[in-house]
Amino acid sequence: MSPAIPPDIVSLADYEPHARRRMGENAWSYIAGGAADERTLAENQAAFARLRLNGRVLADLAGAHTRLELFGQRLDHPILVAPTAFHRLLHPDGEVATVVGAGALRAAMVVSAQASLPLEAIAARAAAPLWFQLYVQPDRNFTHALVRRAEAAGYAALVVTVDAPVSLRNREQRSGFRLPPGVEAVNLRGAPQPAAQPVAQHESEVFAGLLRAAATWADIDALRRLTPLPLLLKGIMTPADALRGIEAGADGLIVSNHGGRVLDGQPATIEALPAIARAVGGRVPLLLDGGIRRGTDVLKALALGARAVLAGRPVLHGLAVGGATGVAHVLKLLRTELEIAMAQTGCATLGAISPGVLWRPEAAAW
Ligand code: FNR
Repeated sequence: MSPAIPPDIVSLADYEPHARRRMGENAWSYIAGGAADERTLAENQAAFARLRLNGRVLADLAGAHTRLELFGQRLDHPILVAPTAFHRLLHPDGEVATVVGAGALRAAMVVSAQASLPLEAIAARAAAPLWFQLYVQPDRNFTHALVRRAEAAGYAALVVTVDAPVSLRNREQRSGFRLPPGVEAVNLRGAPQPAAQPVAQHESEVFAGLLRAAATWADIDALRRLTPLPLLLKGIMTPADALRGIEAGADGLIVSNHGGRVLDGQPATIEALPAIARAVGGRVPLLLDGGIRRGTDVLKALALGARAVLAGRPVLHGLAVGGATGVAHVLKLLRTELEIAMAQTGCATLGAISPGVLWRPEAAAW
């Protein structure tokens, strides 16, 4: 039996204290933390809070819905589960609980390369589209074999995360975060690692060490040639990289700063989105993640050019508190809030959500 959801949880933020208690401080430092001083982490939510909305009244909402189509896949609503690592850190059923919860809301889920259960076992329980998230591994043959495994298991898109070859997560370092025994990236088992070459004292640990086998645009070209699946790049934060990605054959781009976990000092994703949307000009769909905590945040992202959004930490909070039920509840709250926000801004469909839903001070002046 899944545990009942505590009755005082009525919004995504309400999950946090419960999740923290359930998972304990070791896991919390990993889940909640961001890079360095966590400024970008904070900005992701703060920037959404700064945007305000125009309420509209008396609109005819007969037949209103949140359906959309992405890469030929029909989705009931534009809220996806972001790829996050090691769900067994939070719940014994791990990613299987997450995919069952997502399926209850018919939410598409992006499964992390660092999932703690076999990607085939997760796919076997899916009731909505599943996409596979790839980190290019030091061994490119292993990387390509992993893509073939995802294709064979029925994953419907490949999301290549391009923003995280190195990171500096001080909160985890301070807490001494360790994965507990039995929790590991099982799909990467047996991945050949480059022979450990000791980095001499005078050499750069970063350039000569961590980045030695990092992905480049040539890897995206190779993946584009390899797979017929829709290919998305996750971690795009500038118009220049968005255009480069389209040139490399990406079918979609995810505007993401990895939930503030990589380059601290980047803007919030919602701040980066408008310029990227202008540059891309509708050639490929844009998705966005980072700081989505309310249905109004989804509305704001769609108003500024995203076709869909992904939620990371809130889904993990739901998983820690209530397993599959918690995941479904988090997604349900977000979806219901989006529908309420659409009704209150007079939007009967996602296509009707335009920049006009955002309040501008100059328009209010008289
Ligand atoms: C992540 N994220 C991530 N991204 C990815 O491409 N592969 C991964 O394995 C992970 N793992 C991961 C673990 C944890 C604990 C977190 C919090 C995040 C990033 C994730 O996909 C997404 O970009 C952010 O979580 C979005 O921000 P919010 O929704 O957490 O604010």
